[in-house]
Amino acid sequence: MPEPVQPTVPTTRALTGSAAAAGAEAAGAAGVVPTERFAARTAGMTASEIRALFAVASRPEVVSLAGGMPNLAALPLDSLAAEVADLVSREGQVALQYGSAQGVPALREQICEVMALEGIQADPDDVVVTVGSQMALDLVTRIFCDPDDVVLAEGPSYVGALGSFAAYQARVVHVAMDEHGLVPALLRQALHTLAQQGITPKFLYTIPNFHNPAGVTLAVERRAEVLEICARYGVGVVEDNPYGLLGFTGRIYPALRSMDRDVVYLGSFSKTFASGLRVGWALVPPAVRDRLVLAAESATLCPPSFNQMLVSRYLAAHDWQSQIKTFTEAYRDRRDAMLNALETYLPEGCTWNVPDGGFYVWLTVPEGVDTKAMLPRAVTARVAYASGTGFYADGFGSRQLRLSYCYPTPERITEGVRRLAGVLEAELDVMRTFGTSARPAAVGPTPPRNGPQAPSPHTP
Ligand SMILES: Cc1ncc(COP(=O)(O)O)c(C=O)c1O
Repeated sequence: MPEPVQPTVPTTRALTGSAAAAGAEAAGAAGVVPTERFAARTAGMTASEIRALFAVASRPEVVSLAGGMPNLAALPLDSLAAEVADLVSREGQVALQYGSAQGVPALREQICEVMALEGIQADPDDVVVTVGSQMALDLVTRIFCDPDDVVLAEGPSYVGALGSFAAYQARVVHVAMDEHGLVPALLRQALHTLAQQGITPKFLYTIPNFHNPAGVTLAVERRAEVLEICARYGVGVVEDNPYGLLGFTGRIYPALRSMDRDVVYLGSFSKTFASGLRVGWALVPPAVRDRLVLAAESATLCPPSFNQMLVSRYLAAHDWQSQIKTFTEAYRDRRDAMLNALETYLPEGCTWNVPDGGFYVWLTVPEGVDTKAMLPRAVTARVAYASGTGFYADGFGSRQLRLSYCYPTPERITEGVRRLAGVLEAELDVMRTFGTSARPAAVGPTPPRNGPQAPSPHTP
């Protein structure tokens, strides 16, 4: 009998191409895949400025106003620890096993109860649990967008969504907001212009409540109009709502999904419970559900059973609504500390919005200051922020920056804004001394006065 032939395992050199591998080895980096082998869609995948900042910004001497990390200090860790232990000892065989691709049924029912607070009537069968709402964003883009498809998004928009759109080579057309959120007239105008070019966007991606990064909330009077405009042009709506229950006035806004069952709604426990558990969800029309579940299955087989069961127990056994109230009280104190510090320290010509929920203040700096170019000098001065360009797909935002007040203490926030003000003063000094900025001119209107106001308009 002939000896069975052993399959040969390709070596690193065979996998990567001998010439390239030789070069890589010579450079001391054996096994690096040559970039021409990557799929074309990876060209749009760039590290977000925020992620790149994480390493420096997390040094203890730096006050980070950059990241949107929820403040978990108020969580009842001891009772959660007991819950974890009980989950393992009583239900470990299920919790540590593969589960359903769509998510744990009991949790999907509880998610419907959470969404009912925003007026949504949903069937648990239409809920797909995901690994954070970021995964839901990725999956939704994956099943709807081919390369070059157009997606509408507010300008500015959530950096993680822009990352997903870029990863699937979708083109983003921004629609401006004012202090009441997305401007319906500009949405209509954008859709009209696109229609004249024969383009129907795949969907409008919108964050109606306590927007990331703009901090604004879509006025209730505008909600039906936004839906009606999209319906008229045959454009879907993806509503991303991780902050909706984090209002400072106690008001809960009606979800777009509560007004239109065709809206794809994305939710998350990251901001209302624990971001590390990575439990989010999509509520989708039945016609979309099966595709979404198949896409989810190919990404993860199933979301983590253990984390879902822990969230389910937390919702069942803890007063989670009081916990959210505790969180929002802490965030309101931090928001107030930030607004006070901005009023006290910032130089003339800066403007910002006053958020009534969520994590973010969106700041416009005086003309000539480039927030991306200024960032290294800010970090040297031991304060970090997220520069505005990361929140636009089209290079706009060089005169804007996002400040997060969710994580640092009020004292640290005050100190961080004081440091930021010093950096801005130094930039303005250079401009005054040399008559002009050495940096590229900023785009956008000159704010009329110092103080809180709406984000700068930005037409598509
Ligand atoms: C608007 C928005 N959508 C989605 C996400 C992602 O949240 P998750 O932790 O659920 O993936 C975030 C996180 O900051 C966000 O701000």
